Amino acid sequence: MVTGQKLCFMSTLIVYCVVQSGNAISPDGETLLGFKAAVVDPDRVFLQWRQEDADPCKWKGVRCDPQTKRVTYLSLPSGRLSGLITNEIGKLSSLKLLALNDNSFYGNIPSELGNCTELQFLYLQGNFFGGSIPPELGKLSELETLDLSSNSLSGSIPPSLANLPKLSAFNASTNFLTGRIPSEGSFLKFFKDSFVGNRLLCGAQLDVVCQDSVGGPSSTSPTPGSDSGASRRKSSRYSTRLLISAVATVGALLLVALMCFWGCFLYKKFGKNDGQNLAMDISEGASIVMFHGDLPYASNDILKKLEYLDEDNIIGCGGFGTVYKLAMDDGNVFALKKIAKTNEYLDRFFERELEILGSIKHRYLVNLRGYCNSPSSKVLIYDFLPGGSLDEALHGRSDHLDWDARVNIIMGAAKGLAYMHHDCSPRIIHRDIKSSNILLDGNLEARVSDFGLAKLLEDSNSHITTRVAGTFGYLAPDYMQTGRATEKTDVYSFGVLILEILSGKRPTDSSFLEKGLNIVGWLNFLVMENRQREIIDPQCEGTQVESLDALIGVAAQCVSSNPEERPTMHRVVQRLESEVITPCPSDFYDSNSD
Ligand SMILES: Nc1ncnc2c1ncn2[C@@H]1O[C@H](COP(=O)(O)OP(=O)(O)OP(=O)(O)O)[C@@H](O)[C@H]1O
Ligand SMILES: *[C@@H]1O[C@H](CO)[C@@H](O)[C@H](O)[C@H]1NC(C)=O
Ligand SMILES: *[C@@H]1O[C@H](CO)[C@@H](O)[C@H](O)[C@H]1NC(C)=O
Ligand SMILES: [Mg+2]
Repeated sequence: MVTGQKLCFMSTLIVYCVVQSGNAISPDGETLLGFKAAVVDPDRVFLQWRQEDADPCKWKGVRCDPQTKRVTYLSLPSGRLSGLITNEIGKLSSLKLLALNDNSFYGNIPSELGNCTELQFLYLQGNFFGGSIPPELGKLSELETLDLSSNSLSGSIPPSLANLPKLSAFNASTNFLTGRIPSEGSFLKFFKDSFVGNRLLCGAQLDVVCQDSVGGPSSTSPTPGSDSGASRRKSSRYSTRLLISAVATVGALLLVALMCFWGCFLYKKFGKNDGQNLAMDISEGASIVMFHGDLPYASNDILKKLEYLDEDNIIGCGGFGTVYKLAMDDGNVFALKKIAKTNEYLDRFFERELEILGSIKHRYLVNLRGYCNSPSSKVLIYDFLPGGSLDEALHGRSDHLDWDARVNIIMGAAKGLAYMHHDCSPRIIHRDIKSSNILLDGNLEARVSDFGLAKLLEDSNSHITTRVAGTFGYLAPDYMQTGRATEKTDVYSFGVLILEILSGKRPTDSSFLEKGLNIVGWLNFLVMENRQREIIDPQCEGTQVESLDALIGVAAQCVSSNPEERPTMHRVVQRLESEVITPCPSDFYDSNSD
């Protein structure tokens, strides 16, 4: 048959072509093309990385051994590259230098980098690598420089690194590392400035004594029945190490979770005691300050009510203290926030700052009605919002928010935040945007709460330590690195909030952590694969695809790692209004506008 022959001829041609192109590039070139395929490259760095070349030796950022043509250098620092680095990179076994620093790579540092045993210089600083430092790096016996600073690495520093005989420069500063710093071998040479900016690291280098329970991963008992490794004798030492590091990471995460839980528990407990103390505190010279006659009661009526508050009235507790529900005799209900600890700064600025916060009125902000000031405790009086927090609505209830409700909440929160940033004088940076600080009224309208509190209540020493556990997933990388809050760090947190509302998943959901990602890493991954619509919560009914695309676009811009690329909140509101199809004009429902 003619057609049959034609087909046959064509398939021969195709096979021929494939074989040709298979011959065309060296195995190292193939590996690099695989690396390229997983990386988003907005500046077209990889323009001349071509499949047709015989070897990759003339490609940008690549150098080869002149004889063997094996790749020895891969150097692509200080760009805008973003993506995962897979274990395939372990095939570049002649690599001497790998410099991918100051980009936006995320995910885990691949453990099979340990196969590149000729590596002398490894620069990975200034990215978003998460997970733990692979103990396999301890196999790199030629390694002289290892810079992992300014990433999001957790877990402990593997003791195997101390055995690297040639290691002369090491930097792990500004990560989330925990546990004991190795104090032997090559680590004798490294001092404080290699480790600073990791809250939970301990050891002589930092002048921090290790508590025994936190000290080393070695105290954790091995988990029985853990998988696969046993069959392969050769790698069994390795899998033990891996296992230990995994246990350590999980342990560290548990520790953080436990600390968070404990903190809350203690607050609750103190809250209880304080419930009784509240009366005493207040009788000795307490006063109620009301803003704009917003609280139409005599001071004494309120003080008397406060006397009878006890643990039954507690509705929640957070980083700053306990929240009580206060019902007045006329049926009005308020939320009282009792600040757990006060400091000197607070005493000095409390009234002035609260005067400012109390003067801010906006439909999408929780109204601060007044406060009770006594020498030993501070109580803020807010509107009570019957819908509770968005955190509970997304993660705690069995009835799920539908699409229109979610879009409406995003809109409201955006407007509230835009008002704080652009229309208040002085402007207010929230610093603590997260789902538990978005409250809902009876019609599921959003109200931003706790604005201005972070600045007022956190003294500079404690801010990361006390706050990070609950807020971790929302913090912009630039904020984590510098500790300086700006409007743009709020915008980042708002982008995370959009992703949380769309996906119904907490920013640090365990499914992300397993893959070494957080919600932003996950978004980047889905966008890269052009699967971003999969972000939507399967429990969300009535999703409109065009609006979803627009919201993902806005969120992606908000969580840009470069603060300058993030839009202002004004711009966010504009984009939401023009691109996202809103349900019904919610203004009709405005129940208690003043
Ligand atoms: N005005 C309010 N009306 C109704 N419920 C409230 C109000 N304020 C707070 N709550 C409830 O109390 C809980 C605790 O609030 P709180 O602000 O103390 O902690 P948080 O928001 O989790 O953390 P943070 O201390 O960072 O704000 C909230 O999650 C919410 O359920
Ligand atoms: C790394 O080495 C291990 C053990 O020798 C091997 O099984 C694995 O395939 C290697 N990985 C790569 C990417 O070459
Ligand atoms: C480690 O990195 C940080 C930030 O990247 C830098 O400030 C510090 O000086 C570095 N330390 C060493 C020992 O190079
Ligand atoms: Mg709050």
